[in-house]
Amino acid sequence: MSIEIPEGLTELLQSFTVEVLRNQPRDLLEFALQYFTQLKERETKEASFGNDQNSAPRPGKAVNFIEEAMQIDSENEEEEDDDDDEEFIAPVMSRFIRRASVCAEAFNPDEDDEEEEKEPWVTHPKTDEQRQRLQEACRDILLFKNLDPEEMSQVLDAIFEKISIEGEHIIDQDDDGDNFYVIESGTFNIFVKVEGAEKLVGCYDNRGSFGELALMYNTPRAATIIATSPGALWCLDRLTFRRIILKNNAKKRKMYEAFIETLPLLTSLELSERMKVVDVLSTKVYSDAQQIIAQGDLANCFYVVESGQVRITMTRSRTKKDQEEEEVEIATCSRGQYFGELALVTNKPRAASAYAVGSVKCLVLDIKAFERLLGPCMDIMKRNIANYEEQLVTLFGSSAEIEQQSVRDGSNRP
Ligand code: CMP
Ligand code: CMP
Repeated sequence: MSIEIPEGLTELLQSFTVEVLRNQPRDLLEFALQYFTQLKERETKEASFGNDQNSAPRPGKAVNFIEEAMQIDSENEEEEDDDDDEEFIAPVMSRFIRRASVCAEAFNPDEDDEEEEKEPWVTHPKTDEQRQRLQEACRDILLFKNLDPEEMSQVLDAIFEKISIEGEHIIDQDDDGDNFYVIESGTFNIFVKVEGAEKLVGCYDNRGSFGELALMYNTPRAATIIATSPGALWCLDRLTFRRIILKNNAKKRKMYEAFIETLPLLTSLELSERMKVVDVLSTKVYSDAQQIIAQGDLANCFYVVESGQVRITMTRSRTKKDQEEEEVEIATCSRGQYFGELALVTNKPRAASAYAVGSVKCLVLDIKAFERLLGPCMDIMKRNIANYEEQLVTLFGSSAEIEQQSVRDGSNRP
């Protein structure tokens, strides 16, 4: 006796299974109930719009039920339809987040709470070895720095690994935002379209992260990222990113809005641009005498003093012939003042060291955010950089001596 398999059954069960594996629901029955209810609702809705109802529900539609429940961009339904078939062959994790997101939405964490809280948390089981590598890769990611342990653990649970090959487009400019990426290894070029042509604007070398902008502001991808070597990336899905990082950002905005407004450096930025600075900054606390910057080190951050005082020092030989070095204080920064811009502007090692005097709290911006957001503040920075020379001449004597000194110790000045 032959048993007839109803048309669409395989696809239906396949899509459901994919969602179960992806979401790992605690209550399978409840999850199934929600899944099939929404599937049915969707089918009914389509029927009322005269869409194709003859076949069984298409898998691409079925797997998108989570975002449907979140009601993100419901006005983009038609665009999403075009993507559905392609999404079915796409890797499981990326499917429900690949949508056209055209409007720059203002995030309201309280509003999103209710809808998002209903969704199951994404979990990707990891081996101990993977978890260890992941923790290492995430250690210096500023966007994760202010998370509490529970939030960090949710991020670590949700992240999944992706191996990248040379030449692979990890992100294409203007696409929808699916994941946020943390680099574990590999090099990646950043291209931005300028008057229709791709312009290389920077690269990542075995560290850092990218892909946060489209997820934060619900905008199309702002750059193309191409792997220039084989590599490994950790990917955080859009939903988890928004749940955790955006809520954290909303808190940060409330906390730093007033302080940011007082910073003379940022006066050339629009209010919205200043808020974008807040979104990507992190805070770091230092204890008395702790080193914040070491002269000669490679630079990847920029600092603004929120509280306490920071001593800037430079090492120099005691005499012209002497190899013995002494550390001389050249400046002090207090609340609202910044440091650590010089190496980022000149693309050279740190010109001086910085130490905490008492307990110090700094706002920290990573190099990519610095380059992207603080361009309009460059005039003010350059004016201050011009004063460094003068300051050093006052302290150490003629510019020629300083020049010799900087050649010896590898420090830099413009
Ligand atoms: P997103 O727009 O989501 O995707 C492309 C990513 O490239 C972007 O987020 C940033 O994380 C990263 N990026 C690095 N440099 C730039 C730049 N100069 N302009 C825009 N995006 C950049
Ligand atoms: P950077 O070179 O990145 O790290 C050390 C920082 O010390 C430097 O940026 C400046 O922000 C700061 N600094 C303050 N005074 C001076 C000075 N006279 N010369 C160089 N750096 C200075």
